[in-house]
Amino acid sequence: MLVLGIESSCDETAAAVVADGRRVCSDVVASQAAVHALYGGVVPEVASRHHLETVVPTLSKAITDAGISWNDLDGIAVTCGPGLVGALLVGVEAAKALGYALSKPVVGVHHHAGHMAAAFLSHEGDASPGPERSHVALLVSGGHTALVRVSDDGAVSQVLGVTRDDAAGEAFDKTAKLLGLGYPGGVLIDKLAVSGDPKAHAFPRAFPARESLEFSFSGLKTSLATFLNQGPLPTGQALADVCASFQAAVIDVLVRKSRRALAQQGLKDLLVCGGVAANQGLRTAMLSAAAEDGFRLHIPPVRYCTDNAAMIAAAGTRLLKRGIRSGLDLNVDPGLPLP
Ligand code: KG4
Ligand code: ZN
Repeated sequence: MLVLGIESSCDETAAAVVADGRRVCSDVVASQAAVHALYGGVVPEVASRHHLETVVPTLSKAITDAGISWNDLDGIAVTCGPGLVGALLVGVEAAKALGYALSKPVVGVHHHAGHMAAAFLSHEGDASPGPERSHVALLVSGGHTALVRVSDDGAVSQVLGVTRDDAAGEAFDKTAKLLGLGYPGGVLIDKLAVSGDPKAHAFPRAFPARESLEFSFSGLKTSLATFLNQGPLPTGQALADVCASFQAAVIDVLVRKSRRALAQQGLKDLLVCGGVAANQGLRTAMLSAAAEDGFRLHIPPVRYCTDNAAMIAAAGTRLLKRGIRSGLDLNVDPGLPLP
């Protein structure tokens, strides 16, 4: 089953062709990061306009790169929420127009179902990735931080904990801004943290209640802002130390709560997904925790952690295989709750 995935929920216009929900035949991501960097963050109206300019060439490239023709497709999967309303509309209208013109089924996909499906994408040298049984998923992106229980059919059966305030990725982005590093912040902090001392500063870890699986990152950001107000912006080794210490505080909480969730649920498989799952420090810390506790860790390759359309095609394939279709009345929902 060849499915075209389309993703335009934020500042990436992406299209990909995936076979049987696993094998990536093409994967095109046109990032607008450089445009939004001028403003220090994503400007929704600017994002919509760039999606409009980029969507057709991005779709065409996905088909060409896959070495297929439009008629070879068996279906089209598109992100319909959550995200920026104007940005989402570009992808959804493109999907509906294509579906109508080609007489192919279209299905709307929840962006986070896409992030979770990224673990099933196969890439060279990886025969069968992805959790096959009930598992805990830690979703860490720019807009969301959540621990959920996923049943063996891939559906979210229980939300175990979400963030009370900032998402983990948002904390990275806001911290990078405070440090004058620019946008997008997560990957910049990740790089600087490599040469820093994670114990140089004791930034707070938020544990609202001992057994709680909720998150909170706004206190960490305030603590860092207060620290930075005491003197000039750090540079060189001092900057690397602040990045490493901040990152360690985020990772510590993510790892501890994931372990707690696995223990509380009696499960042995953890999926970590979303843009922050690209973080090298988090990946290493999760690998150590998995080795110590004996759980199986599933993290998509870095390329499929941040926004892409292959993950949307993978999630959409599951829906299409179950006979789920969207009509021409498919609409976007910027606040779409988890399915
Ligand atoms: O999943 P994603 O691409 O978009 C959303 O759905 O939000 O996640 C983007 C977030 C941003 O906050 C970005 O700073 C963060 O993921 N991110 C990272 C890294 N790469 C992206 N955070 C930490 N380390 C990274 N290497
Ligand atoms: Zn995302």
